[in-house]
Amino acid sequence: MPSYTLTVNGKQQTVDVAADTPLLWVLRDNLGLTGTKYGCGIAQCGACTVHLGGVATRSCMTPISAVGGKPVTTIEGLSSSGSHPVRRAWIAEDVPQCGYCQPGQVMAAAALLARTPRPTDAQIDAAMTNICRCGTYQRIRAAIHRAGQGGAR
Ligand code: FES
Ligand code: FES
Repeated sequence: MPSYTLTVNGKQQTVDVAADTPLLWVLRDNLGLTGTKYGCGIAQCGACTVHLGGVATRSCMTPISAVGGKPVTTIEGLSSSGSHPVRRAWIAEDVPQCGYCQPGQVMAAAALLARTPRPTDAQIDAAMTNICRCGTYQRIRAAIHRAGQGGAR
């Protein structure tokens, strides 16, 4: 079994797994980071979204062998105390319903805001392709606007 060393939430981790093991399973099963969720397994729903080199990435279809030296950030690593503006905005707008899709939504939103600090509705719609079975899309959009304004709205 090959050995892979990756940086997850700022910490170096080494795992012995098959080359085609999805990053999602390494995070959840090998590293115990269960905040990242499994939904579809075919890169469609976004429940498994993490940041890979700062880019929102669907970890269910990312083999461990493709991670290379790019740092991985999961929902657990977004902020240590829930102080990230996206997390604060999510709470202020009371976004989650069942919550299952929300770690992926938050990670997608954080990646969007990192490159587009004040996105328009159209930019939000283009970037936020994660599925929410509970239909929290309007609150997600409001929370992204709020976070983009530094939480001042
Ligand atoms: S579980 Fe990865 S996109 Fe659905
Ligand atoms: S909050 Fe239930 S799936 Fe999104």
